[in-house]
Amino acid sequence: MVSFVYRQPRIANHSQPFDPPLPGRNFNATLPTSRLFTQGNSKISGYGTQSSLSICTTANRLYSTAAAHDVQATPEPLKSSIELPESNADESRVAIGWPDGTWSRFHHFWLRDHCRCPHCFHPVTKQRMLDTFALPPSLYPKTVVSKPEGLEVTWPTSPPHVSVYPWQWLRHNSYDPRTEPMSIAGQSPPPPIQEKILWGSGIVRDPPTVAYEDVMSDDLAVLKWLEKIDQFGFCFVSGVPATTENTEKLITRINFIRHTQYGGFWDFTSDLAHGDTAYTNLALPAHTDNSYFTDPCGLQVFHLLSHERGTGGQTLLVDGFYAASILKELHPESYDLLSKILVPTHSAGDEDYLYRARPLSGNPILQHDPLNKDLLVQVRYANDHRSAMRNLHPSEVIPWYEALRNWNRCLTSSDSEFWVQLNAGTVVVVDNHRVLHGRSAFSGKRRMCGAYIGLDDWRAKLDALRGRFSSAGSQIKERSVWDVAF
Ligand SMILES: [Fe+2]
Repeated sequence: MVSFVYRQPRIANHSQPFDPPLPGRNFNATLPTSRLFTQGNSKISGYGTQSSLSICTTANRLYSTAAAHDVQATPEPLKSSIELPESNADESRVAIGWPDGTWSRFHHFWLRDHCRCPHCFHPVTKQRMLDTFALPPSLYPKTVVSKPEGLEVTWPTSPPHVSVYPWQWLRHNSYDPRTEPMSIAGQSPPPPIQEKILWGSGIVRDPPTVAYEDVMSDDLAVLKWLEKIDQFGFCFVSGVPATTENTEKLITRINFIRHTQYGGFWDFTSDLAHGDTAYTNLALPAHTDNSYFTDPCGLQVFHLLSHERGTGGQTLLVDGFYAASILKELHPESYDLLSKILVPTHSAGDEDYLYRARPLSGNPILQHDPLNKDLLVQVRYANDHRSAMRNLHPSEVIPWYEALRNWNRCLTSSDSEFWVQLNAGTVVVVDNHRVLHGRSAFSGKRRMCGAYIGLDDWRAKLDALRGRFSSAGSQIKERSVWDVAF
C-alpha cells in the first residue's frame, strides 16, 4: 500500500486537473537559461494541402497554382518553460500538471510496466525484460516526486523499486489526454514530424534530386536523400555511372534489396518476361507496383541504362496523395468509397505462381491510419491487376464505378501528371505506397535495371539515421532507452 493519504479523486471529467500537489512532493527548480523553442516544420495535418491549392472545377479540369515547395505551413512557436511539472497521485493514477496548464494522467500499472531502468528494460536491445504478468494488477506508488530529470516514482517493493520517467517521454506518450509538444524544464521536445509536400505537374520545375557522389560517401547525405523521398514520395539521383554494378551499390546504400518473383536486382529489356505488361514496350498507365502483394514493396528504384534505335518511353510519375486530396475536395463521396470498398487483386501471368493479396476479400485503394481516419497512408492501385469485384453490395456497384472514374480523372489530369524523359546517369526512387508510375509506349530497345526495397527496410534506415543525426547534422553516439520512437 502507499504511504501517503489519497485525496478523493476527480478523474471522470478529464478537463479538470487533479487536486493541487501534495505538500512536500513537488518543487520548482531554477534552471540557468531560458530558451525560445520554435517548431522547424509544422506537423503532418491531413498533409496540409488544401490551404496550398487553388482548385478550379471548370470543365472538370483541375489546377494547382502553388509551386511544389510553397506548401509549408507557417511554423508556430512552441510553448517554452523552465518550470518543473507538478505531480500528484490518487488511488489509480498519477497526474502530471504541465507548465502550460494541461494535465496528463497515467495509470499506476502503466507506469510500472513502462519502467526503463536496466532491470526492467535491456539497455542494449531496448526491449522489455520486466515480467508484466508477475506484477500485481493493483499497484500503488509509495511516492511520486518531480525532479529536473523527470518523474521519480518509488514502488513499495522490498527493496523499493525506483523508476524515473523523463518529462519529454511522458509528454510524448501522454494518452489521457494526448498532448502537444512543448519545452519542459528547459528541455526541447523531439523534432517535429516532417511535413509531406504534395505536388502536381509543377514539380517539373524543381524535382527533388540528390547527387550520387554525396550519398555514396556520406550517411548524412543518405538521410537527406531518404527525407526527400519521405517528403515528396520520390527523388532523383544524378551523376550515377550507367552500370548495373554502380546502380546496385547505390540501392544498397538504403538497405538490402527485396527479392520477388521478378528476382532481386533486375537488369532487363522488353521481352515479356514474367508474363507482365511491364516487360513489353506498351504504354503503362499510372499504377503502384505489387498491388497483388499483401505488403507491396516500399521503394521502387529504376535506372534507364540505354535506349537504342527508338523513341518514346517517357516516365510518368503521379503523386497519389495529391490526386487523392483533389478527389476528396471535388468528390468526397467518391473518396469515401475508395477508402472503404475492398478491391481483390492478383498476378497470374507466370505459370509458377499465383499471387493474391491478403485478405482475399481485398484492400481499399486509399488506406488510412487506423487511429486517424483522416490520415492517408497508402495508395494501392493498378486497375489492370484488379480481380472480380464479387464483394460489392448491389447498391455500391454504380457508385463505385463512378468513384473509380473520378479517381482516374484526378490521376490522369494534366495537373497531376509529371512526365520526364529519363536518361542514363539519373536514377529515380519512388515511394510505392504513395507515388504512381507509368510510361509512354516506346520503340527500339531499352535496357533498364533497378530493384525493390521493402517498406520496413527503407523506413528502418530513415528512422535510424534520424536518430543518429541531430537536426544540426552532428552525430548522436548512442540510442537512448527513452527514444520516443519506441
Ligand atoms: Fe510498375
